[in-house]
Amino acid sequence: MVDDIDTLRSQFLAGVDAAADLGALDAVRVQVLGKSGALTQLLKQLGATPPEQRRARGAALNSLKDDIAAALETRREGLERAAIATRLLSERMDISLPPPEAPAGLIHPISRTLEEMAAIFGAMGFSVGEGPDIETDWHNFSALNIPAHHPARDDHDTFYLPGIEGGPARVLRTHTSPVQVRTMLGQAPPIRVIVPGRTYRADHDATHSPMFHQCEALVLDRDITLGHLKGCIIDFLRAFFGIATLPVRFRASYFPFTEPSMEVDIGWNRKTGDIGAGGDWLEILGSGMVHPNVLANAGIDPREWQGFAFGMGVERVTMLKYGMPDLRPFFDSDIRWLRHYGFSALSPVMLHEGFGA
Ligand code: PHE
Repeated sequence: MVDDIDTLRSQFLAGVDAAADLGALDAVRVQVLGKSGALTQLLKQLGATPPEQRRARGAALNSLKDDIAAALETRREGLERAAIATRLLSERMDISLPPPEAPAGLIHPISRTLEEMAAIFGAMGFSVGEGPDIETDWHNFSALNIPAHHPARDDHDTFYLPGIEGGPARVLRTHTSPVQVRTMLGQAPPIRVIVPGRTYRADHDATHSPMFHQCEALVLDRDITLGHLKGCIIDFLRAFFGIATLPVRFRASYFPFTEPSMEVDIGWNRKTGDIGAGGDWLEILGSGMVHPNVLANAGIDPREWQGFAFGMGVERVTMLKYGMPDLRPFFDSDIRWLRHYGFSALSPVMLHEGFGA
């Protein structure tokens, strides 16, 4: 009788040894301990055993059961450890290998330009400010010295929205300049901020899109002069285009919110599109000393503080930098265009390396 127990033990242990994975091990367990497993059967038959043998046989069966449980546990631990070791081996990665050929995502040229602007101005001590795309008529126009019926509003035809519950009239902002006002209302000078963001005008052709981007800059302190404005803009443009000798020209102009105002041109070759040489001039941004009325509208005393502001079109400088002929593909989501003009996510903007075209 004890023989069958020993046979079962050795069969079982052989099965446990042979189990190559957790699934096979569980199958062995079920064969012995399952509802109709071999050991379960022997235990059931215990009641039919003559009383004088029952005690010894019961003890033997129970000790077999303990051995089985211990053997299962030991093997299970061993298999689990082996499985982890295999996974670690198969998932090991060699970080010195080049990245796989999987189609990598690309950074949109607009995002790239905005990052470059933040990097260049960041190095000059500017922080980045924000304002809403849906602006009040007051912030977008009136506070900037553009009263209702001022002809300057004609150049800024935009999308008008009704005020909410009798609230102020609203517009999709036509430039980032309203954020000058919001910044001045929100913090005391000295101020050194750039405002990259979306802007809107009712225009649509090869060089105009109803939604586009601008980057504004505002510097306010006690003794800021036109000289600072010129130095800041020249430094920025030369860093952005990666041309240390880029010709920059300041030309008297008019904006209601700056006085004096200047448009800024860079040197280029109209025929070839090359930036930096060629004797032609290309207008690139608007600038000026912040008008005292704007300071006063934003609660800042113009006798104490003064400074400059400028704003530029982000698409425009991006098109010039990379020789892009048409503005519309920026917003067409055409993957072929993005593959051609996009930037690798693995080469982030780093000022110390320069980022010439
Ligand atoms: N907001 C002006 C525009 O959109 C640009 C500008 C900004 C001019 C700041 C002067 C000062 O054309």
